[in-house]
Parts: sequence; structure tokens; C-alpha cells
Amino acid sequence: MRDLAVETTGLTKRFGRVQAVTDVDLRVAEGDRFGFLGPNGSGKTTTVRMLLGLVLPTSGRVRVLGGRVPQDAARVLPQVGAMVEGPAAIGHLSGRANLRLLDAAVPTPGGRRTRRRRVEEALEALGLAQVGRRPVRAYSLGMRQRLGIASALVRRPRLLVLDEPTNGLDPQGIALVTDLLLDLSAQGTTLLVSSHLLSEVEHLCTRVGVMDRGRLVVQDHVDALRAPTGRLLVTLAGAAHDDGGRSGEAGAALAGQLLGRRLLEPPAGHRLVVADCGDVVGDLVRGGLAVREAVVERRTLTDVVLSRTTAVGEGMGA
Ligand SMILES: Nc1ncnc2c1ncn2[C@@H]1O[C@H](COP(=O)(O)OP(=O)(O)OP(=O)(O)O)[C@@H](O)[C@H]1O
Ligand SMILES: [Mg+2]
Repeated sequence: MRDLAVETTGLTKRFGRVQAVTDVDLRVAEGDRFGFLGPNGSGKTTTVRMLLGLVLPTSGRVRVLGGRVPQDAARVLPQVGAMVEGPAAIGHLSGRANLRLLDAAVPTPGGRRTRRRRVEEALEALGLAQVGRRPVRAYSLGMRQRLGIASALVRRPRLLVLDEPTNGLDPQGIALVTDLLLDLSAQGTTLLVSSHLLSEVEHLCTRVGVMDRGRLVVQDHVDALRAPTGRLLVTLAGAAHDDGGRSGEAGAALAGQLLGRRLLEPPAGHRLVVADCGDVVGDLVRGGLAVREAVVERRTLTDVVLSRTTAVGEGMGA
């Protein structure tokens, strides 16, 4: 078993009468790319803030990179890069000056030249090299967000915690950040990323945790969650032209005869939903039908999140 980068035990936070986080046991192993999901108000940001010592738990324990938070925060937090609830920066300074200040705030190996190079590389990686001189107050929303991510990774942290990093980014920015995070992960950085963009999370993450009304209701490998549904989606040849037409009907009728009760839904043109058992494609082909495509249906992360969580406003006591 790999070491845990993040481990919480019974983590709980109440703000007055609001129960924000309840009894959360979060486990993020070193090297994970962990996606932290859940509806608005489900407790993601509050949990992340407790990991970083920004909010004290009402009860429960937090360990980050082998140290306790907040007790050992001074030792472990310099190895953590984070952006929580949007980027923070000093408006009248340039993006570059902001990064230099941040980089200098904690003693790290390397002389002045190494530090400058690190800052330039972070600006470059986020596509900010051209606007690095402008004061941050003149940045667009997406530029600020990019600067926030640059700030989190400039010191080459062992653990990178990003709360909704792709908020406000354009599609190019989202792709750039995703690739950058994959790159950092390949170099050994552990990632904990909260997001509502489930297709991005599906692409980026190896494990996910799903919050619902303050509780961690799912914590598993993405591959395990995306298990086959037991259904096969078959497209018969010829579908491109006469969907639902005469030959479509004839093909569907023949498919119905060949598959019997394995056909799960009335055929829509050339598209069949079939129980994934036996040699479905072989039976269709031997019966005289040409098969263009047969895909094993899998649950998406969206299915998982929607089926395990409650919409905002539904059943929320406060
Ligand atoms: N400082 C605070 N004082 C009072 N209540 C708070 C505070 N911070 C958070 N809460 C409440 O705690 C609950 C969880 O909020 P949190 O910000 O952790 O949710 P989230 O999962 O990050 O949501 P989102 O997806 O909208 O960012 C909400 O009901 C919120 O109103
Ligand atoms: Mg949040």
C-alpha cells in the first residue's frame, strides 16, 4: 500500500447550525489523481480548507503528507500547493511580481536565478508569459484563474490541491490545465482536484470521492465506478442513410427474431440495445445482418454522481 498523502478520520465541521462536513474519512494515496466531486454546498471546499489548516475542524483528525494539521502545519504545508475558492493575488502588482513574492515566502532550495526560472516556467506553463507584466487587477477572470494555478504549482509541491481549477477557463485553458496536471502527476505530484466538470475529471482522475450533504458517499477508483452496465449498444450497418426507414425496420425485425429476449428495448432504426450475454454480434452476423459497431455500455461519472447525490435545495436542512 502506498503512503497516504491525505488522511482524514471522522472529519466534521459545523458552522453554527449548519452541518457542513460530517464524519469524513478521506484517503488520498501518494501519486493519486483524486477528483473531489459533489453538488454545490456538499462540503468540498470546507473539507479542503480543513486540510490546509484554513479552518479548524469541529472534530476529527487530519493528516497531510505524514504530518498532523494544524499541529505540524509549518512542516508539511510548505510541500503543499493550493488554490481554494478562486485565486488570491495583489491587484496592483503584476502576475510575475505576485509569483515571485509567493515563491520567496517560503525557504526553498535554489538561489535567486533558480527562483526566477521557476516563476518564468510557471507563467509559461499557464500561457501567461505575455501578460506577466500587467497588473493583476487588469486580468480577465480566466487569466486570474490561470495565475492562481501558477501560484499553486510554482514551488513544485508534492501535493497539489486545487478547488475548481477550471472555473472560468476557456476550452483551450481547460485542455492546457488538464495536460499540465497529467504532466505533473507523471513527475510524481499527488493531485486533489475538486470540480463539477465530470468529463474532465473522468479524463484526469484515477480515483474520486463524492460528497453529498457533508458526507463522503463514494470513494473509489474511476475504473471501478465506470463498470459495464451489462448492456451492449449495437449499430447495424447502413444506419448513416436511412435511419428508421424501410430497411431499418426489416433489419430491426430480423434482429428481434435472432436475439429474442436479449433485445432490451424496441429498436430505434438501426440501433439496438441488447443484453450483453452470449455471442450477440456472431448471432446477428450469422443471421445475415451486418454490424457496424458494438459497444459495451458503461456508467459515466455523471451517472454515478447523479445517482448518489441530492440536488441543491432537495432535502437540505439548515
Ligand atoms: N464560513 C462559513 N460560515 C457558515 N457556513 C458556511 C461557511 N462556509 C461554508 N458554509 C456552509 O457549509 C456548507 C458546505 O459549503 P462548501 O463551500 O464546503 O460547499 P462546496 O461543496 O464547496 O460547494 P460548491 O460546489 O458550491 O463550491 C454550505 O451549506 C455552506 O453554506
Ligand atoms: Mg466549493
